[in-house]
Parts: sequence; structure tokens; C-alpha cells
Amino acid sequence: MANITIQQATLADLDEVRQLFYDTITKVNVRDYTPEQIAVWSSGHTNIPKWEMRLTEQYCVTAKHGEKIIGMASLAPSGYLDLMYVHHAHQGQGIATLLLQALELQAAKWAITEIYVDVSVTARPFFLRHSYTISEYNEKEIKGVTFQNAVMRRALPLF
Ligand SMILES: CC(C)(COP(=O)(O)OP(=O)(O)OC[C@H]1O[C@@H](n2cnc3c(N)ncnc32)[C@H](O)[C@@H]1OP(=O)(O)O)[C@@H](O)C(=O)NCCC(=O)NCCS
Repeated sequence: MANITIQQATLADLDEVRQLFYDTITKVNVRDYTPEQIAVWSSGHTNIPKWEMRLTEQYCVTAKHGEKIIGMASLAPSGYLDLMYVHHAHQGQGIATLLLQALELQAAKWAITEIYVDVSVTARPFFLRHSYTISEYNEKEIKGVTFQNAVMRRALPLF
């Protein structure tokens, strides 16, 4: 897709990225999860301190089409890939691939040797396509609702 810019997110993006998170879960992940799981997961958009932490302590990037944010992703200095969400109307256009490239570039700058991510059922094919492999499965309980996640990892070359 033409005219996409990848930019580092700032606190000014707080409300737009929270909205993108909520909309993507309720419109895209909804096909792979129960209504209870979707309700609990999407409610994470109200946790403002956690969003402020992501925007200030993680390397958080947005994909913009004009002025509109249509994707976002973040990486913690530990190598933990926290966010990867693409707008429901822009799925399958290579947006997540651009975001992942930006995170992997930052990982190289931080001299991180491995990226790991707690992957949703929905995102597994995407990370498999990008050479991430499943290292373990885990069960997470959030607000009394259970989620089956897979931890996926990719070793990065040392420069
Ligand atoms: C997973 C997600 C981020 C992928 O975003 P995207 O912009 O559609 O991905 P891309 O267009 O860059 O896809 C890159 C490759 O992965 C493949 N891929 C992505 N999603 C896929 C799917 N559901 N099934 C099969 N292949 C898929 C694409 O076919 C593409 O392969 P190609 O290069 O051979 O054509 C997006 O579907 C999303 O926002 N999901 C909901 C939120 C979510 O679950 N986030 C992850 C939390 S860990």
C-alpha cells in the first residue's frame, strides 16, 4: 500500500492507539475468541498507566496513512514484543510486516539477540511467516477468563 509512514509514537498518540487496540480486537480477533475473552482483552484499552508505560518505556511505532494511525507495534528493551495491531480495514496489506521491520531494526540497535512474543491465535500465521517459532504454550488468566497463548521467538543475527 502506498503512502504509509512508520513513525515513533508519542504520548500525543495515546487515545488513537487505544482506540485502534479496541477496534482491532473487537473486529479482527473476534473470529478466534469467545465473547468473554474479547470483552476482557479489549477492556485493556482503559488501562491508561499501562499505555503511558508502553509509549514512554518501549519502542512504540505507528503506521500512518496520511494523518490516520492504521497500525501500531511495540518492543520492550528486554526483547519482548508487546503490541502488534493493524486496522481491520487494512489487514493483509503488508502493514504489520513494515512495523515488524522497524522493531527488528531497533532490536539490532539495542543489541538484542532474541525477540519473543506472546502470540494470539489470530497472529500465529503472521509470525510463522516471519520465521518466528513456537517455544512453549501457556495459559493466562485475566479477570477470571483463560487465554491459551503461544510464546514465539526469533533469534536475531549479531552485527
Ligand atoms: C496479525 C496481524 C498484525 C497481521 O497484520 P497484517 O498487516 O495483515 O500482516 P501482513 O499483511 O504484513 O502479513 C504478512 C504475511 O503474513 C501472512 N499472514 C498474516 N495474517 C495471516 C493469517 N491470518 N493467515 C495466514 N497468513 C497470514 C500474510 O499472508 C503475509 O504473507 P505474504 O508476505 O506471503 O503475503 C493482524 O492480522 C492483526 O492486527 N491481528 C489482530 C491483532 C493481533 O492478534 N495482534 C497480535 C497480538 S500478539
